Amino acid sequence: MEVLMEALVRGQNLKMYFRVSGGTLKAVDGVSLHIDEGETYGLVGESGCGKSTLWRMLAGLYKPTEGIVTYGESFKGRPQMVFQDPYSSLNPRMTVGEIIAEPLRYAGMDKARRRDRVTELLSLVGLKSDHINRYPHEFSGGQRQRIGIARALAASPKFIVCDEPISALDVSIQAQVINMLDDLQGKFGLTYLFVSHDLSMVRHISHRVGVMYLGRIMEEADVDDLYRETLHPYTKALFSAAPIPDPDIAASMKRVILQGDVPTPINTPPECPFRSRCPNAEEICAATRPELREVAPGHRCACHFVG
Ligand SMILES: Nc1ncnc2c1ncn2[C@@H]1O[C@H](COP(=O)(O)OP(=O)(O)OP(=O)(O)O)[C@@H](O)[C@H]1O
Ligand SMILES: [Mg+2]
Repeated sequence: MEVLMEALVRGQNLKMYFRVSGGTLKAVDGVSLHIDEGETYGLVGESGCGKSTLWRMLAGLYKPTEGIVTYGESFKGRPQMVFQDPYSSLNPRMTVGEIIAEPLRYAGMDKARRRDRVTELLSLVGLKSDHINRYPHEFSGGQRQRIGIARALAASPKFIVCDEPISALDVSIQAQVINMLDDLQGKFGLTYLFVSHDLSMVRHISHRVGVMYLGRIMEEADVDDLYRETLHPYTKALFSAAPIPDPDIAASMKRVILQGDVPTPINTPPECPFRSRCPNAEEICAATRPELREVAPGHRCACHFVG
């Protein structure tokens, strides 16, 4: 019998299908994963592979077409989100204090306590208490992202989804925001789902990483295992297309160039979704779907030729 460890968030066989004019768009097509309390789960994959759709199901914003999401006993509050664009996600007509206090107002906290809490949150994210009456346009991109993070933290959530939280920021600011997220995780035992195109940032911040392709997880492992012992041909291609600063890894990495474009997720056949671009594809790849199997402790891979 399979013993399920207590996870903070768990998705089982999650599918999200959309009806579109050309047929059925399978944005997420049978994903099972769990995120443990206090960990950062990094989610990577090309644009359109279903990352945002997956977390929307995990956060309860989408009702899955199929599959279930469950939360562990220590889960409390609502999942909170930190988005890519700190410019459009903050209401320009509200003051910083009003923005950060909004979740507290919904929760019924009185005005005096809200003010105290906002002051505390501003200091947690490295802003000054006299910023409380200013408007978002008076701040830099990095400061606006700090405001967004303060708002996400306001109601003391357990689970925070960061969807490309730094990609709109100057490189010089990115590390500051990442380090702050790291500190906050340690202080409050936060659990993050961290979505990013930036593979070296994902490596830096994540404990475990899942690699998505056309609505499925192709490979998942502890971060060091994934980056040092990359198994799936798609992950290899994805990693070799991006510069990885670690020279040991760079030297051991053969460059794999992906042929062709990502196929559309409309009417995807049930077999291996990567086979049209895979350098190793054989008949079996067009005949049966490779399940995501554990091929080494904690390392799962969905390829007929691995493990
Ligand atoms: N509400 C919707 N109706 C129809 N199709 C959708 C809907 N939401 C997402 N899709 C499609 O589902 C697929 C996955 O989209 P999703 O936004 O989850 O990808 P993503 O990995 O987050 O991409 P990106 O990195 O660009 O943010 C895409 O083909 C997208 O066009
Ligand atoms: Mg997205």
